[in-house]
Amino acid sequence: MITSTILQHNGGQQSVNAVLFTPELARIIEVKQLTALEKVFTIELPKGKSLGHRPGQFVEVSALGVGEAPISISSSPSRSNGTFELCVRMAGDVTGALHRLGPRDRVGIRGPFGRGFPIEKFRGKDVLFAPGGLGLAPLRSLINQVLDERAHFGRVVILYGARNPSELLFKDELQQWAKREDVELHVTVDRGDENWTGNTGVITTLFPKISVYPRNTVAVTCGPPVMYRFVLMELLGKGISEGNIYLSLERRMKCGVGKCGHCQINNVYACQSGPVFAYKEIKGLEEAL
Ligand SMILES: Cc1cc2nc3c(=O)[nH]c(=O)nc-3n(C[C@H](O)[C@H](O)[C@H](O)COP(=O)(O)OP(=O)(O)OC[C@H]3O[C@@H](n4cnc5c(N)ncnc54)[C@H](O)[C@@H]3O)c2cc1C
Ligand code: FES
Repeated sequence: MITSTILQHNGGQQSVNAVLFTPELARIIEVKQLTALEKVFTIELPKGKSLGHRPGQFVEVSALGVGEAPISISSSPSRSNGTFELCVRMAGDVTGALHRLGPRDRVGIRGPFGRGFPIEKFRGKDVLFAPGGLGLAPLRSLINQVLDERAHFGRVVILYGARNPSELLFKDELQQWAKREDVELHVTVDRGDENWTGNTGVITTLFPKISVYPRNTVAVTCGPPVMYRFVLMELLGKGISEGNIYLSLERRMKCGVGKCGHCQINNVYACQSGPVFAYKEIKGLEEAL
């Protein structure tokens, strides 16, 4: 009896693992080159299945025969239309192999995994977005979700920084956001070129341009690790509380589901408890920032 219970238990565990570790074979519908290093892939799961994600979550994408990489979901659930989008920077083996794929090619998808942004807590509040570089990829999902439910939010302010004009992502969408009267968009680049007429300087140079009502503001930031300390200083300096500042932490991930320990930050698994955290939750973790 005990043995059969254990077998049943192990069988249950095996089937849970099978679901977590077996990729769905998905199809690339479209590939758009955004910059020299970044492409956006539109992907469709089999049988019209919906990914069912929340902004801030990620998937494990496999380039078949090469390996897997965690990639944030860049499209918003409100625009899913049976497909989802991933913005992939060519960095190494897996992302390089993904960049060689085109429409109709297959990729493996596991997920969505991780804890996304608690958008329900943002309703009724002003939302300040501060993405840097590739950090716009996950925040775009949340920004478009907020814009699709615009009436439920207060002011929407976006401060976006990239290293130079050629590295700005989603330029078409930036133009659309800039035209909207209900969005305040400020863009900066570390170094301009001969055609650049906008702000020059790191993302923190944009903060003096905006006013914030701290008690009613939620801030969301995502970008290279070096950016966080300085952006956090600005956000806290504006009086936004630690519980109302959210950031997405990228760590080396392997399983994506809390089994391998690769993503551990002190005693926290970033793949499960994150990648989205309120600053209040991680400020005591010395390995977090
Ligand atoms: C939660 C999460 C979300 C992510 N979202 C995106 C996304 O939306 N778009 C995107 O392009 N990338 C994203 N990444 C980073 C992406 O997972 C790595 O670039 C990818 O795993 C590299 O794999 P590779 O085999 O191509 O490169 P590798 O050959 O493994 O490595 C190439 C280079 O990339 C560096 N690298 C590998 N993994 C990471 C990492 N996690 N963070 C920083 N540097 C790394 C290595 O040190 C090496 O210098 C995300 C990572 C995480 C953890
Ligand atoms: S990636 Fe394996 S535990 Fe987080």
